[in-house]
Amino acid sequence: MSPDTETVKRFFDGPFYLERGRHIIRIRAMVVQEFLGDVHGTRMLDIGCGDGSLSIPFLEKVSALTLVDLSPRMLELAEARIPDHLRGRVELVNTPLEGFEPGAAYDIIICVGVLAHVPSIDATLAKVASCLKPGGLAVLEFAPNPNPLGGILSPYYALRRVFSGVKPAYSTNKMPLAQLLLAAEKHGLHLQKLRRHSFPLPGMGRWSKELLYKYALCTLNNPLLSKIGVEHLMLFKKAC
Ligand SMILES: C[S@@+](CC[C@H](N)C(=O)[O-])C[C@H]1O[C@@H](n2cnc3c(N)ncnc32)[C@H](O)[C@@H]1O
Repeated sequence: MSPDTETVKRFFDGPFYLERGRHIIRIRAMVVQEFLGDVHGTRMLDIGCGDGSLSIPFLEKVSALTLVDLSPRMLELAEARIPDHLRGRVELVNTPLEGFEPGAAYDIIICVGVLAHVPSIDATLAKVASCLKPGGLAVLEFAPNPNPLGGILSPYYALRRVFSGVKPAYSTNKMPLAQLLLAAEKHGLHLQKLRRHSFPLPGMGRWSKELLYKYALCTLNNPLLSKIGVEHLMLFKKAC
């Protein structure tokens, strides 16, 4: 069953994601910069922006940035990071992406860390495509399922759930990569680039954030390890 919007909002209004995910956000920000290159004068939309770590670094260059998130807390954190002299370029929209209606189409869309949590992956891809200008770029992220590490590690995670007694807040969306790419194609989004890295393995829970970042960076850049990377960061171009 797909996650429902209220449960997802409650989860991201809490501190868990940013406390645990800082090293992953650093990797994402780096790859997004690498994918997009020169963004001078573009209109950018960040869907499910979180604390704005991925798009706010582009603010000096873009002509306009729209930050959309269903979590008021995430948008507050993003707003606090906007330099005063660039405030006029930013629009903050507190809404589920499903209800977002842009005034005009965008050159660039970032939608990272979001597809796992939405009511419908297909509807989200349709929304991204409809908000994008022909020839525009979209950076999307997903951890497709099945994946090579998932099969090996699933007994470990099942046992850990039983012994910790902690239930996940909700079950995230699962979809094989080929199906995701087909759905994107259907909406006119064509894959241009793909980078993969891995999440921490069992036993790394007590590692420092710096060490976890270095591990993720190693799995991103090592040709062999990146092949079995779990998180897929993808650059798409909308058909002209
Ligand atoms: C895993 S975080 C990723 C944040 C940021 N993009 C990053 O990678 O650091 C997912 C974000 O998407 C937001 N989100 C989840 N479902 C959403 C929806 N249906 N509409 C708008 N925002 C959503 C959450 O509130 C959260 O801030």
